[in-house]
Amino acid sequence: MFYDEYIEKNREWIEETFAKLDKKLSRTAVSSRNKLPYTVGPDGKHDDKTGQDVNWWTNGFWGGLMWLMYEKTGNEDYKKTAERSEELLSGALTDYLIQDHDSGFRHHLVSGANYRLTGNEGSKSRNLYCAATLASRYNISGKYIRAWNWREGWTIIDTMMNLPQLYWASNVIGDTRFKKIAMAHADMAMVEHVRADGSVVHICSHDPEDGHVIETIGGQGYGVGSAWSRGASWALYGFILSYIHTEKQDYLDTAKKVAHYFISGCAINEWLPPIDFRAPIEPRYDSTAGAIAACGLIEIAKAVPENEKATYLIPAINILKAMEEKFCSWDESTDYVLGMGSEAYGRCEHIPIIYGDFFFAEAILKLLGSEFNPW
Ligand code: GLY
Repeated sequence: MFYDEYIEKNREWIEETFAKLDKKLSRTAVSSRNKLPYTVGPDGKHDDKTGQDVNWWTNGFWGGLMWLMYEKTGNEDYKKTAERSEELLSGALTDYLIQDHDSGFRHHLVSGANYRLTGNEGSKSRNLYCAATLASRYNISGKYIRAWNWREGWTIIDTMMNLPQLYWASNVIGDTRFKKIAMAHADMAMVEHVRADGSVVHICSHDPEDGHVIETIGGQGYGVGSAWSRGASWALYGFILSYIHTEKQDYLDTAKKVAHYFISGCAINEWLPPIDFRAPIEPRYDSTAGAIAACGLIEIAKAVPENEKATYLIPAINILKAMEEKFCSWDESTDYVLGMGSEAYGRCEHIPIIYGDFFFAEAILKLLGSEFNPW
């Protein structure tokens, strides 16, 4: 069958890439054990968000990456670093007012993974508290989960990736409320954030009283009406994950629609994702968008019928191979794997970002046949 045959055709590259990941990460698992890395300093070594920035939205990716690698290899160094990450992150749970929509990124990948892989009851409880906090951000009039703490009426496409924490909570305690809130938010995002052509709006500003959308905002993309590639990748992967958790066909169809837009924007750029698909043509890349989208494309390929699988699996591998060749650092003198991430159009472009490494590794593990879904 096509999926398995195409994986076989690429097996040598997939296995070699995983071996390089394991070699590098088994070293940094030890050297960065007491850090919550975001990027690297001028010396190529991981920075550290513990202390003042313990609630930074990306702080779960390092521990999450360690659980992914532990699940595949059984190497105890990965487990020790993942557990240490969870200890460091507990500092983010002490103040209700700093909780936000990124609770899934921050805690589901670490505490959720710990519970699922080891049965740790403390981790289960922490993740349930976080799910409850996330659910408490639901706006009943607008049927959406509020994004940042400083703007009551804003929703962002990124929140699609935090919904799996709610699906998990419903399953684990047998209570559908969390799932219903997640689905209401996904239904809103399908209408308000995904345009008819498959491009994606980063921010919608709603009236918090009656919920209607007042305006859309360009956010981290090129501008109003543009097509920020990481936003598209959050939608692509987020909708297929919502489909996996709910089997609602509209979510699969939406993931496919966004995928078609994403794939065509990469195909004309030698499979390297630009920061924004609707911006002047120039060499401005965001590798993180490519890694996130590759994960989503692989999941779509698994979900669609046989004669549709190539449409998604071939571009996923094309993107990963192009980025591995052009953007990855396998050099032992650096702590990162995937370079050329971009925080936003015009801000902190072409830097390594920790979730680039997370999603790149997650995609390679999927291609290796890993059954563990951290979402
Ligand atoms: N979730 C924020 C970002 O993608 O940069």
